[in-house]
Amino acid sequence: MPSYQIRISNTGETYACADTRTLLEGLEALARSGIPAGCRGGGCGVCKVRIEAGTVRTKKMSRCHVSEQDEAEGCVLACRAYPLSDLQVRAVEKMARCIERAGARDGADPLRSAHRPAP
Ligand code: FES
Repeated sequence: MPSYQIRISNTGETYACADTRTLLEGLEALARSGIPAGCRGGGCGVCKVRIEAGTVRTKKMSRCHVSEQDEAEGCVLACRAYPLSDLQVRAVEKMARCIERAGARDGADPLRSAHRPAP
């Protein structure tokens, strides 16, 4: 079961995510307080991220939350996306606000990388 390194552009953090886990599950394993609680099923849109580098496979995503243009620009729902390579990911919209606010509160150093082994 391959595991990939996911870098969050907003905070500079990295985490490991197996190809069988969604990007959101991997993010939650960081135990960060800033991860918004959403539906985890592609329906609410709070977990939207943009893939800046690397490849993912996705399950069906609601067009209400990821338009064709969003998708063309690399936006996916983290709860519906699985890594196929190391990734650079930028949280957008609500997810970005939550992560960046929590990072500031937790004193996250944007240059620090939190390497954690895959569970
Ligand atoms: S958590 Fe609701 S769309 Fe991802």
